[in-house]
Amino acid sequence: MNRSFSSVSRSCVLTLGLSFSLLSGIAFAARAPMEPLPTPSGIDIPVGLKNISNGTQNQSQPANSAPASGPIWESANSDPLNYVSIPDKQAGVLIQRSGQQWRLIRNGVITVYGAWLLALGFFGIAALYTLKGSVKLSEPLSGLMIKRFSALERLAHWVMAFSFIALAFTGLLILYGKYFAMPLMGGIAFGNFLFVCKNIHNFSGPLFTLSIIVFFILFVRRNIPEKGDLQWLLAFGGIFGGKHIPAGFFNMGEKVWFWFGMVFLGVIISASGFVLDMIVPFMNIEYWRGTMQLANIVHSSMALLMTTMAMGHIYIGTIGMQGSIDGMKTGYVDASWAKEHHEIWYNKINK
Ligand code: HEM
Repeated sequence: MNRSFSSVSRSCVLTLGLSFSLLSGIAFAARAPMEPLPTPSGIDIPVGLKNISNGTQNQSQPANSAPASGPIWESANSDPLNYVSIPDKQAGVLIQRSGQQWRLIRNGVITVYGAWLLALGFFGIAALYTLKGSVKLSEPLSGLMIKRFSALERLAHWVMAFSFIALAFTGLLILYGKYFAMPLMGGIAFGNFLFVCKNIHNFSGPLFTLSIIVFFILFVRRNIPEKGDLQWLLAFGGIFGGKHIPAGFFNMGEKVWFWFGMVFLGVIISASGFVLDMIVPFMNIEYWRGTMQLANIVHSSMALLMTTMAMGHIYIGTIGMQGSIDGMKTGYVDASWAKEHHEIWYNKINK
C-alpha cells in the first residue's frame, strides 16, 4: 500500500516537473521578437551557433526543427564569468571551453611529443652505448684516492636524485598509464594504483624542491663558468673528436646540467607543481581552472624535458663512464680519473 502510494506520488512529481519544463520551454521559444544575446568579446562563435542566436537558423538550416535554445546554449557555452552568490566564484562559469583546448594539448601535443622526446633520449643513449661503449680511463687506476664530495653533498644529491626518480616514475604513469597500465590492470585497480602514485608524487615534490635549494647552496660556487668552459662546450668535451679538453671541478656539460637542468627546469617544475598542489607559500594565488590548466601544461612539458636530460646524466654517471659514480658513492675518486676528467682541478689540488 505504502509502496504504491510512493510510486504514485513519484510519478506525479515527475509529470509535474516535465510539464513545467515543457511549458517554460514553449514559453521561451514563443518569445517575440527574439533578442540575440551579446557575443562574448574575443570569442569566435561558430556560424551555426550565430545563426541560432540571431534568429536566422530557419534560412541556414531549414531542416533543423530544434527549438530555439540557441541563446541559452550560447550563454552557457561561453567562458565569461556569470554572477553566483555562493563562495565558489568559479561556479559562475558554466562551461569552461578552454578546458577542451587544455585537454587536447595535454592528451595530444604533450603526450605525443613528450613520448618522442623520451624515445629520442633513450634510443640516442642506447646508440651511443652500442657504438662507443663506456668511456674507459686511458691510464690504469692509481689506487690513490682524492676527496671529491662531502657526506652532506652526497646526501643532498641522492635525496634530489631519488625524489626526482619517484616523481618521474609516478608522473609518467599519471600521463601515460591509461594507455598501457589500465588495459592490463583494469579500471578499478588502475584507479587505486594511480591514487597511490599521485600521493607519492605530491609528497616527493616538496622534498625535491628542498633538495634543489640545498644542492644549489652547496654547489653554486663550483658551477660558475670559468676559463676553458667555452672551449669544452664547443668541442662537446672531446667526446666525438677524441681531443682531450681539460676541465675544472665540474666540466661545462655538468654546469649546463646544473644551471639549465637543475636550476631553471627544477624551479619551473617546482613552482608549477606547487600551483597544482595549491600550496604556493607567501602568494595569494587564485587557483582557477585556467590557472591549473596553464600550470599543468608548463609542469608536464618541462618535466618531460628534464626527464630526458636526466637520462643522459644518469647514463654518464653510471655505465657511460668508468669511475664516475665513485665520487657520489664514496666521496672519493681515483687520482687517474681526476687527472683525466678534471685536469684543472687535479692540478690545483696537486699544488
Ligand atoms: C640514479 C640517478 C643518478 C646518478 C647515478 C647520478 C650520478 C651523479 C654523479 C656520479 C655525479 C658526480 C659527477 C662528478 O663527480 O663530476 C652527479 C652530479 C650531479 N647530479 Fe646526479 N645522478 C643521478 C640523478 C640525478 C638527478 C635526478 C639530478 C637532478 C634532478 C641530478 C643532478 C646532479 C647535479 C646537478 C650534479 C652536479 C653537477 C654540477 O653541479 O655541475 N642527478 N650525479
